[in-house]
Amino acid sequence: MVPLAPHTHIRIGGPATFFVEPYSERDVATVVRACRDLDLELRILGGGSNIIVPDKGVDAVVMHLNSLNRVVRDGDRLSAGAGVTLPSLLSGARSLGLAGLESLSGVPAVVGGAVKMNAGTREGETFDHLVSLTVVDREGEIRVLGRESFAARYRDGGLGDMIVVHATFELREDTPEAIFERFESYLRRRNATQPVTQRSVGCVFKNPTGDSAGRMIEASGCKLMRRGDIRVSARHANYFVNEGKGTYADFLALADEVRSRVADRFEAQLEMEVQAWD
Ligand code: EPU
Repeated sequence: MVPLAPHTHIRIGGPATFFVEPYSERDVATVVRACRDLDLELRILGGGSNIIVPDKGVDAVVMHLNSLNRVVRDGDRLSAGAGVTLPSLLSGARSLGLAGLESLSGVPAVVGGAVKMNAGTREGETFDHLVSLTVVDREGEIRVLGRESFAARYRDGGLGDMIVVHATFELREDTPEAIFERFESYLRRRNATQPVTQRSVGCVFKNPTGDSAGRMIEASGCKLMRRGDIRVSARHANYFVNEGKGTYADFLALADEVRSRVADRFEAQLEMEVQAWD
């Protein structure tokens, strides 16, 4: 049994029955085939910035990809392993004078998770500069696929059950100073409007088309509402923060209450952005 809470940003959840950390794409493929042959459930854990884990844990093999952490430059392209954190990829790109990823400033994800959910901000999304992906499919085959193979949408990379092991981004040259300036200005705005130093999963709900879930949650009177130690942030209402010993059950109860208040006020059904494992 391996505790999963320390691997999540919000520090919620029980243990996994099995926990594996592959060091190569081939190891990932081997784990996938072994799980299939042994009929074990397999779950993928990236940076843990967008998931909540049940309090009782999960009876599954959890594969953690943070050791796939190589970054390789080829001209204007950067290839990064699934476990590379976006902050380190962005700072590497900046020092190499490669621009394009600044719109992802402050997104607390790793490359694999960011691709899987097409993480982004109002300035841009992960798929904007993506050219190809190396994935492992559920048969355990390693495949290299062009961006056009994926129907990426808002907060959904369209990968189905494929596992990202590598992503290649096409960037453009610019001076490190200009890149740094954009990076800093996005980061300043984010730090001023979001509770970035508290334990959270980022935005809990997706934005409905043309509106902001945060605005709607605030207008529905939910700011500062709480269940146990999970509270709707005072700074940004689409963030739930763990103020101590918050649980999975508290989080989902609060999400249900918020969703129902927003539905009453706006006749809109908010859809979860956070991945709640069952
Ligand atoms: N607003 C409120 N009350 C709140 C929060 C926001 O009235 O509590 C208002 C703001 O004043 C603003 C509008 O809602 O007028 C939009 O707010 P903001 O600029 O913070 O953007 P957002 O739509 O809430 C989105 C992404 C964030 C991303 C920011 C900035 C989603 C669900 N959220 O938030 O992404 O950082 O834009 O680019 O798409 C995430 O996905 O986890 C995430 C944090």
